[in-house]
Amino acid sequence: MIKAGIIGATGYAGVEILRILQSHPEVQIAAISSVSFEEQGIDTVYPNLYGIEERKLTHSDEVIAGSDVVFGSLPAGVSEEFAQKCVDRGAVFIDMGADFRLDDEAVYAKWYKQAYKRPELHEKAVYGLTEWNRAEIAKAPVIGNPGCFPTSVALGLWPALMGGLVKTGSIVIDSKSGVTGAGRGLTQNTHYAELNEGFAPYKIGAHRHTPEIEQTLSKMAGTQVQVVFTPHLLPINRGILSTMYLKFADGATLARAHAAYEDFYRKEPFVRVLRAGDIANVKNVRYSNYCDISLHEDAHTGTLIVVAAIDNMVKGAAGQAIQNMNVRFGLPETMGLTMVPPAF
Ligand SMILES: NC(=O)c1ccc[n+]([C@@H]2O[C@H](COP(=O)([O-])OP(=O)(O)OC[C@H]3O[C@@H](n4cnc5c(N)ncnc54)[C@H](OP(=O)(O)O)[C@@H]3O)[C@@H](O)[C@H]2O)c1
Repeated sequence: MIKAGIIGATGYAGVEILRILQSHPEVQIAAISSVSFEEQGIDTVYPNLYGIEERKLTHSDEVIAGSDVVFGSLPAGVSEEFAQKCVDRGAVFIDMGADFRLDDEAVYAKWYKQAYKRPELHEKAVYGLTEWNRAEIAKAPVIGNPGCFPTSVALGLWPALMGGLVKTGSIVIDSKSGVTGAGRGLTQNTHYAELNEGFAPYKIGAHRHTPEIEQTLSKMAGTQVQVVFTPHLLPINRGILSTMYLKFADGATLARAHAAYEDFYRKEPFVRVLRAGDIANVKNVRYSNYCDISLHEDAHTGTLIVVAAIDNMVKGAAGQAIQNMNVRFGLPETMGLTMVPPAF
C-alpha cells in the first residue's frame, strides 16, 4: 500500500484528491494538513465526508513524515519548502499549483511576481501532463501537475500540432470554467448573486495559464507558438470547455484531422475523441477523469475548430494528480480513476 498525504486538504483540489483516493485500492491516507483548520476533523469542514473520512487535520510536517507521496494543494509560491522536505525524505511531491510547471524562471517571475527560492529543486521537477510525459513522470521526485485550462488545451491541440494539420500562427483559445476553478476562497465575482445568470470573460489577455499553454504547445509543435487565450467564468460548479480555432495547413481537411486524432488517442484510456458530428460537453465528463474532444470546421475560412471538455476538479486537478501518482509508483494508470460520468 502507498501512503499518501495531502497538504492543503481543505481546499477544493485537496479535498477532491481525498474523495477520489477513498476508493483507490492501493492507497492508504497517511495524514492531511491545514493551517486554518488544524486539529479539526475534515468532516467538520466538508460534511459530505461524515461517516466516511473523519480524520483530523494536522501539521504539514506530520504529513511529510508519514507519506510516500505528498500532494501539495496550495496557492502559488508556497510549495518549494514542502517539496524540498519531501525530496530530503525520499517522498514524491505532486504539486497542484504552478510552482513547478514553467521551465523558465524569468517567465514564472513575470507572471507570478515572485522568484524561485530553491532553483536547484526545479531541475528535479517534471511537468505532469500524464499522456505527454509518462516516461519522465515515472522517475520524478517532484511533479508539477498541469493547470486545468492548459490540460484541456494541450490534449485538444496535441495531434493537430504534432501532425502538422494546422498553421501555428494564429491560434485562438476561448475557454470557460466552472466556479470551483477559483478555489474555496471568497471573491466578489464568485458570490452567488454576481455569478448566477451572468456569463463573462475575465483576465482577458492576462491569465497566468497563458505561458504554460504556450510552453506546452511550442514543444508539441516543435516551434515557438503564441496564443490568444480568453477564459470565461461559467455559472456552474464543475467543468472546463475550451473551443479552439486554428487555420488548416495546406492539404489538411476535417476528415484527415478526425482520422489522425482517433489514431493518436486510440490507446489513451482517458481521452475520448468523439464521433464525427458529436459535440464535446462538460456535462458528459463531470466527476470523471475523461477529456472529451470533438472536431469541427468552418469551411469558408478554412478553420479547424477543436472543442475539449474536462472536469476541472478531476482531469484538470485531482484525477490527473492521482494518474501521475499511479505512473510514478508503477500502478495501472487507471487505478482508482474509473469513475463513470453521470448522465445528469
Ligand atoms: N480548483 C481547481 O479547479 C484547480 C485546478 C487545477 C489546479 N488548481 C491549483 O491547485 C491549488 C489549490 O487550488 P484550490 O482550488 O484547491 O484552492 P483553495 O480552495 O483556495 O485551497 C487552497 C488551500 O491552500 C491552503 N493554504 C493556503 N495558504 C497556505 C500556506 N501558506 N501554507 C499551507 N497551506 C496553505 C488552504 O488551507 P488552510 O487555510 O486550511 O491551510 C487551502 O486548503 C492552486 O494552486 C490552484 O491553482 C486548482
